[in-house]
Amino acid sequence: MEYILDTADIQAIKHCNEFYPLAGVTTNPSIIAKENRNFWEIVKEIRDIIGPDKTFFAQTVQKTADLIVEEAKLMNEKSGGDFCVKIPISEEGLKATIALKKLGIKVLMTAIFSPAQALIAAKAGADYVAPYVNRLDNIIGDGCEVVAEIVEQFAIHNMPCKVLAASFKNAQQVHQCAAAGCQCVTVSADVLQTVIMHPMTDAAIAGFERDWQNVYGDKKILDF
Ligand code: G3P
Repeated sequence: MEYILDTADIQAIKHCNEFYPLAGVTTNPSIIAKENRNFWEIVKEIRDIIGPDKTFFAQTVQKTADLIVEEAKLMNEKSGGDFCVKIPISEEGLKATIALKKLGIKVLMTAIFSPAQALIAAKAGADYVAPYVNRLDNIIGDGCEVVAEIVEQFAIHNMPCKVLAASFKNAQQVHQCAAAGCQCVTVSADVLQTVIMHPMTDAAIAGFERDWQNVYGDKKILDF
């Protein structure tokens, strides 16, 4: 199970990269546009934080296969480390995926809302598919159930493609997707922080501190 951060907010990336076991950072055109800065500056700053080994995911803004391939090649060259291009599923996107696999460039097929879309993306050679959990839940779909079906279908058909579930609004969705066996989730810093929160944990930690201080005061193990 890989945890990936879904943001281009530099402060959030710095914080989460320091404190959480992150496998990489995902972005999309909306996430980049929110920053309203030079694209390559953002890429460089993210890479400087995560280092060359963690995966940086950026999405193409082109619509035709040839231009998607051209843009993916440029981003792959300039990303400064492990890179994966995100391509929304479409006929042109599938054609680009087939071509990029021949060039050895990693592809995440995104904007996936059904197991049928996921299977054909995997067959085209996508390394990852990104089903959008919360956007399905928003329209009274069941995002986690779709993720579970994709995981099952990939197992039946022996597809090496990873399921990178995206679009989360709460920790329960993350938990359900992990339980369904998806290999990666990409989440905001807020959702990631919610994953480790539990009131019983806070109570347990307060109890340990109280009991220790009652006997040893401010003395720490390092002071013995
Ligand atoms: O990048 C895809 C996905 O993470 C989008 O999430 O929150 O915009 O539905 P959201």
